[in-house]
Amino acid sequence: VEGREARPPLTGKHALVTAGPTHEPIDPVRYIANRSSGKQGYAIAAALAALGARVTLVSGPVALATPPGVTRIDVETAREMAAAVETALPADIAVMVAAVADWRVEAAGQKIKKGAAGTPALTLVENPDILATLAASPRRPTLLIGFAAETEHVADHAQAKLARKGCDWIVANDVSGDVMGGDTNSVRIVTRDGIEEWPAAAKADVAARLARRIADALA
Ligand code: CTP
Ligand code: CA
Repeated sequence: VEGREARPPLTGKHALVTAGPTHEPIDPVRYIANRSSGKQGYAIAAALAALGARVTLVSGPVALATPPGVTRIDVETAREMAAAVETALPADIAVMVAAVADWRVEAAGQKIKKGAAGTPALTLVENPDILATLAASPRRPTLLIGFAAETEHVADHAQAKLARKGCDWIVANDVSGDVMGGDTNSVRIVTRDGIEEWPAAAKADVAARLARRIADALA
């Protein structure tokens, strides 16, 4: 029973977790975003704190309560998330669960009005890759974990992502079904040693198992 352990296994460790979507403004009243409830990321932050870690949670806009014992930093855009992650370093563990918008919009300073100028075209600019930047940083956390939400070829895409991003594990998430916004999740843990398939479970249980796996890896 976690609460009864004399010295929880992640005591003295700093864990950084990103969660939720980012919002990229189109104009002062509109934005584009990824679909993300933040539930899995928040559950992971809570599970790491329950194992004794000091947890910094960098969160995009979500409708969730801050888990007990977690320090939460709210951001809106990918660039704000990147800056908050940088400020939170150093960390022993980083779990990048956020659904970061891959592109931002060259935003208008005033509300775009319909009518006169016809249908507006959005010019997209690529956002910084927070996970890849962290992987290449001199302050890279000891254990760096990315998430990958995929709708097809889940294992193949996740293995390619592990190599491309330079992280230690990818938690691959099959989102072809009804995962988004729900309370259960079915994941695979992709490491350089292979792929572990975990049974579908409540997001809280997936988080607890991942936190345990993290503690074991650092032990
Ligand atoms: N990620 C990030 N910064 C970005 C984009 C993604 O830190 N600008 C992180 C996510 O938090 C996640 C991992 O990278 O941990 C994988 O995100 P994903 O969107 O699956 O990967 P991409 O490289 O953006 O590939 P694609 O969206 O084309 O599948
Ligand atoms: Ca992406």
